[in-house]
Parts: sequence; structure tokens; C-alpha cells
Amino acid sequence: MGSYFVFNLKNYATFYFVVFLINAGLLHAQTALPDPLAMNNWQRIKTSKQWHIQRRKELLELFANEMYGHSPKRPSQMRFEVFDEDKNALNGKATRRQVAVYFNGKADGPRMDLLMYIPNKVKGPVPAIVGLNFWGNHAVNTDPKIRITQSWMESGKGNPYVNLSCVVNNQATEACRGVNAKQWPIDSILDRGYALVTAYREDIASDDPKTGLQKGVHSLYPELQTRDDNFGTIAAWAWALSRAMDYLVTDKAIDSKKVAVFGWSRLGKAALWAGATDERFAMVISNESGAGGAKLFHRGVGENIRRLCTVFPHWYCANFKKYMDKDTILPFDQHQVIALVAPRPVYIASAVDDKGADPAGEFAAAKAVGSVYRFLGKEGLPADTLPALNTSVQGQIGYHIRSGGHDVTLYDWQQYLNFADKHFR
Ligand code: GCU
Repeated sequence: MGSYFVFNLKNYATFYFVVFLINAGLLHAQTALPDPLAMNNWQRIKTSKQWHIQRRKELLELFANEMYGHSPKRPSQMRFEVFDEDKNALNGKATRRQVAVYFNGKADGPRMDLLMYIPNKVKGPVPAIVGLNFWGNHAVNTDPKIRITQSWMESGKGNPYVNLSCVVNNQATEACRGVNAKQWPIDSILDRGYALVTAYREDIASDDPKTGLQKGVHSLYPELQTRDDNFGTIAAWAWALSRAMDYLVTDKAIDSKKVAVFGWSRLGKAALWAGATDERFAMVISNESGAGGAKLFHRGVGENIRRLCTVFPHWYCANFKKYMDKDTILPFDQHQVIALVAPRPVYIASAVDDKGADPAGEFAAAKAVGSVYRFLGKEGLPADTLPALNTSVQGQIGYHIRSGGHDVTLYDWQQYLNFADKHFR
């Protein structure tokens, strides 16, 4: 990186000029990180009102156009059906609710099931953590009453997080109950007085490059398919998290002003975009969201835009492809997505062996966005350098890097619950 020429990118014209020089072999460049507090016309904003009214809007538009795609509004026909309730679930510890979200109102249309566990020991509305899961609601706990999803399920051996030998013809079976429970310490979450709300990614949108953008919610918007700024799967997941929030504001057991949105890895990328686009989320927790999540592309370390756009072409919109191989000169970067969460609390977590997610790049983004938090009168991240392993640093921005690899562990959850206590209690 030492040989890189680092400079400020003033606008798109400069960006394309730099691209031209690089393509001609005349330049090996890295641009300075774009300043979230400067408008696209380079004027620095001066008041928090300007941030909320002008700059936020501009950034949302920029990221929707160039990266995530534009998501539709809440469908007018959408409806909820609480199809299960047990006040004595998990040995009396929780009330379980399951809610079908019929996206277009039709029982045979695309449907997402919300699984909720609400702690019984707490009186009154409780704060909640909402996050999508990778392998179905029934996989997060052995509770025999959880509805087994009918949606497509990945299969195959050798998945380090979950034993999927229970999957037959890409359908989950009874034997799949609880197979992913380790990543979802529901007892600890309930003991700390939080409700947990989760839904399965494939209920919402297909994560298969071959069928991505055809199933689930995408099937309702065929007219958007040809657009280069059509919402990709990451945006669809984020959109569904907002639809979960639409339900939560109607549920009296939940304190909807205290809902944290959580996600790991690709679902962490979605959680971040959900928190950026929907200010009803009072907190955002990104567990190793990596490239296209919390890490900075500008460093040119770890997974890059080319890999994201070729291995997972359904995740972001078609426009994002034009930035392949331009990571280090990108005219925007992910600290500006995190900035859209400001001044709400945000927690970014890394794992030391999760090299693809570039832990130092996730930390650098958490640091870089501090300028926006301070501008809005809040503390940023109270750490100048990467904290020691397994040491959580918490201001309005939280961060830790734990030992081990790409995963969600009890240690991670404990830090998130402490962070939620700090801001919600
Ligand atoms: C792949 C991908 C990452 C992603 C991860 C996951 O490794 O390259 O960007 O975060 O899958 O979602 O588990």
C-alpha cells in the first residue's frame, strides 16, 4: 500500500478521471476516505439539522442508487397473523409467539414467519433484539412448537456452524430442530430481560445466485427486475427487518422504542442497511458483517467488490458492478452507511481469524464514523487503536475483536447485551 498515491476525490468526474489513469496503467491510487459530513457538492454541513434533512437523504440516495438498490415501500395489502402463542414456553421462562407476515396479504403469497420469545419475568413492554437467521426459525431452538419453514433450505456436509444432514430435498425436517441453537443463546437473552425476534432469510428472498431476485418478496416486483438499481437480496432482507418492525410497533409486549437490529455476516450487512434506512431501530449490532457491511473497501484488504459481485451477484444492485477493482478509489465507503445510523448506538464486532472481513477495516470504519457522532453531540468510539483481544470498548459506538474465527459466540452476545443495557436501561 505504501506505493499508493493517496488523494481526495472531489466528485464523480474526478473518480472517472482516476479510473481512466489507472486503466491506462498511469496511476496506482488510493483515495482518502470520503467525508460523511461533506455534501456531494463538497460543502461541509454546519448544523445537525442539515445532517438530518440534507446529508442523510443524499447518502441514502447514493447508496440505494449505487450499491444496495431501491427497496419498495411497505405493501399496502400486507397483513400479520399471530398463528401461535404459548405463555408457558421454554419451561415457563418465555411467551412464544409466531406471526406470519403475508407480504401481499395473500395466504398463498410470499410469507415470512416471525418467531418471538418474550421474557415472562419482566413486567410491561420489554426491549427486543431482532435478527434474521441462516437456517430457519426451528434451528435456533429445540422447542417442538416452532413452525418448520417450507422455504428452500441449503444442504450438504461440512458446514462448520450447523449439521445440515437433517435436510431432505432442500426441505428442513423435524430432525433440524435446534441444529443452530449454539449461535442463539435464548436463555441468556431472556434472563437479561430482552425479547428475541427472528425470521429465516429464505422466507424473504432467495440466497441462491441462480434463483435470487425471483422468489420471495422479489416475486412481487417483476417490473423492477430490469433496473440496475433494483433492490438486491441484502436490501430485501433489510426491508423485511423493517416489516418485522411494522409488526413489533403493534405488539404491546414490546417496547418498540428499544428495538436493536442484529445480524451476523451477510445478515449483518442486512442489519446495517436496515438500521441505516429505518430510524425506528434504536440500535444496530453488526457481528462480523465484513465486506459490504462494516469494513472499509478503501484499505483494499479482505473480500473485495469483485468477489461480492461475482460470487453473490444477487446481493447488491447491478450498478455496484461498475466499482469492481475500484475498491481503493471508491467515491463512497461503508463508514458512510454506519453514519446513517448516527446518533443511534451502533456496535461493530470482529473476530481475529475472520480475515475476509478485515477486522482492522471494520475497526477503522467504526473509528471513522466517530466524526459524525461527535458532530451530533455524541461520543464516538472510545479507542484510538485496535483494542486488545476480547476487550469490549463502548461509547455510542461499540467495538470488540474476539479470539477465534467467523461465528457468533456467547461472548459476542454478552457484549451486545451489556451495550443494550448501557443504552436502553
Ligand atoms: C461469505 C461471503 C461474506 C459473508 C459470508 C457469510 O464468506 O464472502 O461476505 O459475510 O459468506 O455470510 O457467512
